[in-house]
Amino acid sequence: MSIITGVPKIDKLTFEQISAYINQQYGINLTSAKLNLVENRLSKRLKHLKMDSYAQYADHIFSKGGKNELNLLCDYLSTNKTYFYRESAHFDFLQSVLDKAAPFQAYNFWSAACSAGDEVYTLSSLLEEHSKKTPIRYSVLGTDISSRMIDEAIEGKYAAARINMLPTHLINNYFEKTEDDKNQEWFNAQPAIRKNIRFQQFNLIKDIPALAMRFDFIFCRNVLIYFKEETKLKVVNEMIQKLKPGGYLILGHCEGMLCRNTDMIQIRPSVFQKPVA
Ligand SMILES: C[S@@+](CC[C@H](N)C(=O)[O-])C[C@H]1O[C@@H](n2cnc3c(N)ncnc32)[C@H](O)[C@@H]1O
Repeated sequence: MSIITGVPKIDKLTFEQISAYINQQYGINLTSAKLNLVENRLSKRLKHLKMDSYAQYADHIFSKGGKNELNLLCDYLSTNKTYFYRESAHFDFLQSVLDKAAPFQAYNFWSAACSAGDEVYTLSSLLEEHSKKTPIRYSVLGTDISSRMIDEAIEGKYAAARINMLPTHLINNYFEKTEDDKNQEWFNAQPAIRKNIRFQQFNLIKDIPALAMRFDFIFCRNVLIYFKEETKLKVVNEMIQKLKPGGYLILGHCEGMLCRNTDMIQIRPSVFQKPVA
């Protein structure tokens, strides 16, 4: 193993072994351009496990005794970046739909790849606030492959830097501010925005066909970019199956072209509606 920058170098065979596994299990496309990312992320695990090489690490994770570490591998290699009110035009669009809704209309939302839950609580705070004017019924399902992210989402406790994009009145109405002993501020999601949400660990490339629910809104943002082309299209088509007629699929701003060869009607950039008939 060569070390030039302080981070050990991975050999080609081990990189291919790890990237093939990640691709097959999670659909994530780790091309050779991601070699440095893999080295950086896994070097911490090598250190933690007191191992000398990535080959030794691979032998461990693919052995019987390495199951726990193998389950965490995707977590170490994927990007969980998220924050409240991300790509805010999508929430403006949602508001425009809600403004036309009849009282007590029911909506099912799915935040697929919700990471630590920022998108789910953004949605539930907007929906709860809207309900003050016109009552609506709603449920929000938040799913992610990472059990660590799902645990954080369930905890629903966020640092100021994560939440400060959310309009101030929503922060004040739906989050309780606390301070820890290092004077860091935290914002805890309150029962009003927890009561209609549910989190579940879920693999988008394997689990969609078994999902029984049908949705009015699916937010699937900033995850498909990590998948290889055929996987992106497969996931998009399976999601369309899970939309009710007239329902909306909302993709990340860079992912809109994925609906190009489907029946979906483009409403706004990266916002698509399933035809009614
Ligand atoms: C960059 S975050 C995006 C979070 C959020 N949707 C947003 O736009 O802010 C990508 C998330 O996708 C999750 N992810 C990656 N592969 C997945 C898969 N096969 N199934 C479900 N979630 C996956 C990661 O764990 C991560 O939390």
